[in-house]
Amino acid sequence: MSADDFIVTPWHVEGDIDYDKLIKKFGTEKISSELLDKIKNITNEDHFMLRRGIFFSHREMNRIIEDHQKGKGFFLYTGRGPSGHTHIGHLVPWVFAKWLQEKFDVNLYFQLTDDEKFYSKTNLTLEETNKFAYENALDFIALGFNPEKTKIIINTKNIQTLYPIAAQVAKKINFSNTKATFGFTNETNIGMIFYTSLQSAPCFIEDKPVLIPLGVDQDPHFRLTRDIAQKIGKQKPALIHNIMIPALTGPGGKMSASEEKGTIYTTDSPDVVKKKINKFAFSGGQPDIEQHRKLGGNPDIDVSYQYLRIFFEPNDEKLKKIYDDYKSGKLLSGELKSILIEKINEFLKTHQEKREKAKQQIEQFLLQNK
Ligand code: TRP
Repeated sequence: MSADDFIVTPWHVEGDIDYDKLIKKFGTEKISSELLDKIKNITNEDHFMLRRGIFFSHREMNRIIEDHQKGKGFFLYTGRGPSGHTHIGHLVPWVFAKWLQEKFDVNLYFQLTDDEKFYSKTNLTLEETNKFAYENALDFIALGFNPEKTKIIINTKNIQTLYPIAAQVAKKINFSNTKATFGFTNETNIGMIFYTSLQSAPCFIEDKPVLIPLGVDQDPHFRLTRDIAQKIGKQKPALIHNIMIPALTGPGGKMSASEEKGTIYTTDSPDVVKKKINKFAFSGGQPDIEQHRKLGGNPDIDVSYQYLRIFFEPNDEKLKKIYDDYKSGKLLSGELKSILIEKINEFLKTHQEKREKAKQQIEQFLLQNK
């Protein structure tokens, strides 16, 4: 991998991602200002994640919007691989999915792939990934979804529902397609080889078009799904992609739930959040105060600033002031970190209360096999 190169696959993200290059590489479309305007007009809201390019790319979002305007329905689908506790980066597509659900008044399915994480990780048992699936479900529910319109799919629990759809999909994807898409080798276990058909299955769980908000690393699965959809008499899933959330320890790599210190979990206490950010958050500041005052910091690579931009400071004016002050040297790294610590802890305080309550609600959300 050369210096300006990067890797984005569902199981491996590395390097400094150039999103324009990635759009070309994956063959997706950049979200245009026309599309942004259309979404704004329909939803009557200018969502900061769209405005700031946190969601930056799509596949056929136009079709979903046009269909919607003609009165044709669609549904939403997203998911999570339960390899550990939920971290704050995971919440990005979930919060956005919730917004879409409310604005378009549609059903949403949330898939927890305990099987996938068992197949892809050498250090996790199936019991552990299944346990994390239920833990992650609590974080999802805590965001305030409506159980009438929202169902959680746990792969090992809902296999009876998924399998007939997965079988249709699996028959149309051949080994050379998955191999080329994911770089599989003869050593890859066959669970992984079959897995894409299970992630595809919820796309066809209702007889309507689907829109999937997702991290761009998950796109390759749905590229395969899109390639075969018409062969099984279905519409291609439409997608809207978010950027990868940087790890606390710095750019190059997404926030991974399996790397303890580079990660802020939704279950972390205020004290742990404070310690992690002060100790590990990659800073775009200068080595000492004197130089920082003189030269200023670089918000574009500063992880604390990025977290504010991506999730924790939706107010553009406040964000711009932080940007300008940091760049000019007026705001020190430690001060920027304090702003973020306060925001995260404020968010987590209510989130953790709702997460507790979710334990009573979970049954209502779990999809029942028919
Ligand atoms: N494979 C995803 C992950 O590791 C989980 C997932 C399943 C998913 N279905 C999805 C993600 C649909 C986005 C959209 O996180």
